[in-house]
Amino acid sequence: MANQDSNKSVTIENLEAAFAGESMAHIKYRYFAKLAREAGADDVARIFEDTADQEVMHAFGHLDLLYPKAQLTPAKSLEIAIEGETYEYTEMYPKFRHLAVEEGNQAAVAEYDEQIAESKEHAENFKRTLEKAAKRFAALAKVEERHANHYQQALDALNAA
Ligand SMILES: [Fe+2]
Ligand SMILES: [Fe+2]
Repeated sequence: MANQDSNKSVTIENLEAAFAGESMAHIKYRYFAKLAREAGADDVARIFEDTADQEVMHAFGHLDLLYPKAQLTPAKSLEIAIEGETYEYTEMYPKFRHLAVEEGNQAAVAEYDEQIAESKEHAENFKRTLEKAAKRFAALAKVEERHANHYQQALDALNAA
């Protein structure tokens, strides 16, 4: 989550930091579990997998406060996702790529190039989904309006009688 808003409350900033930490723990434990399983240490893999599942719930707890359910429509969540993916492929990774070129880290440059392509694809997929959903919401609104008009006509007829 990009943090450029200096007016943000300390608690919101801490929730974002805690969300980032729990999210990282989740992915890290999944990765450790994968390596442990490959090394034949199934018991180690299992405890990392079980704990990773709990870290997801910890991260969700922070998200409940950062993105309250009452304010988050499916369209709004798509907009947030598009913004995040677009930031990744237009700003974050190009900047990281540039610095990796300067340091001569070819492995990182190649990895960033892949991430740029994938973030762009994710943003485009989300945009397509949002456009389709927007059409559906608009069509639904029209049906609702037609129903409302019918009710109004029926009510007017009753009142006129
Ligand atoms: Fe945790
Ligand atoms: Fe992505």
